[in-house]
Amino acid sequence: MATLTKTEISSSEGKVNRRSLERPRRLRQSFALRSLVSETDVNPRNLVMPIFVKDGSHIKEQIDSMPGIFRFSPDEYLDKEISEIQSLGIGGILLFGLPSKKDSFGSEAYSDKGIVQRAIERIKQNNPDLVVISDDCMCEYTDHGHCGVLNQKGEVQNDKTIELLGKIAVSQAKAGADIIAPSAMMDNQVLAIREALDLADLESTPIMSYSSKYASAFYGPFREAAGSTPSFGDRKSYQMDPSNVREAIRETRLDVEQGADIIMVKPALSYLDVIRAVRREFDLPLAAYNVSGEYSMIKAAAINGWIDEDRIVDEVLHSIRRAGADIIITYFAKDYARRWKNLEP
Ligand code: PBG
Repeated sequence: MATLTKTEISSSEGKVNRRSLERPRRLRQSFALRSLVSETDVNPRNLVMPIFVKDGSHIKEQIDSMPGIFRFSPDEYLDKEISEIQSLGIGGILLFGLPSKKDSFGSEAYSDKGIVQRAIERIKQNNPDLVVISDDCMCEYTDHGHCGVLNQKGEVQNDKTIELLGKIAVSQAKAGADIIAPSAMMDNQVLAIREALDLADLESTPIMSYSSKYASAFYGPFREAAGSTPSFGDRKSYQMDPSNVREAIRETRLDVEQGADIIMVKPALSYLDVIRAVRREFDLPLAAYNVSGEYSMIKAAAINGWIDEDRIVDEVLHSIRRAGADIIITYFAKDYARRWKNLEP
């Protein structure tokens, strides 16, 4: 005898039962029930807070386009911020440096006395257990604002740049960085950095590669924060075209082959499909960067009273996790972790 389908069973038992067979609302009746069947979590230990450090002393200045985010000088102002981040149980920090002087080679980026190197040393001295990730790029350090060195025609030179990215990585790792995060989008940069680190006996230092980084207008507020707007042209000859997703798989595969330990999709929100595609294809830990523009849009609307900021942030972070990211780099890390802590019993 053929087995009955659910509809056939219910229709033989009457109308009321048929209506009661599938009722998703049963599991939504209380906070406790909803929590029990919740599929995705955002834990502060998976969040990374970006930090801007600036040469000077006694500086804590707010970034105009990013309310609530500051630049810190590497002194007790920075110490206080870092201790707070650590006590909130946040997974790590991602450091960006604003040097006091820039040149065409971005030499402050690989100076042992550079702003980021001094900040790393200080942070590791005071908070040795906090994961410190350092951005490996040149745009904050070059006088022209591009992510590499230029030739006469003003084009970014790939192979000269990756040599310097290797130098930067070694100086950051020597200063104590736990993870190096190259964001310049030069071809073969992961290999060059891996080789440079290994040659300097830093083979244990992992690389978190910005493997698929798009040429995005969502970086606008960051460029104000870091003073890294290119003085001419744009970054489209090295960052990816937003219309591509197969290319993200290709870029990620190349970085994995070159020795990346953690891969990344950036930005996050307009690229959730890319996060999903990369997640399906690779088994490495995957980070997503919830970038400055994504932060500023929410802040601006919240300041105007147009949206409920906390609920929006929860929704955004959960969507990035649902898409498949393990790690989320987000300017909301502190805000979220503070609320998470308050919910703890
Ligand atoms: C540097 C870098 C940028 C960001 C991270 N690293 C800016 C850029 O590529 O222009 C953007 C981060 C953000 O917008 O929050 N290459």
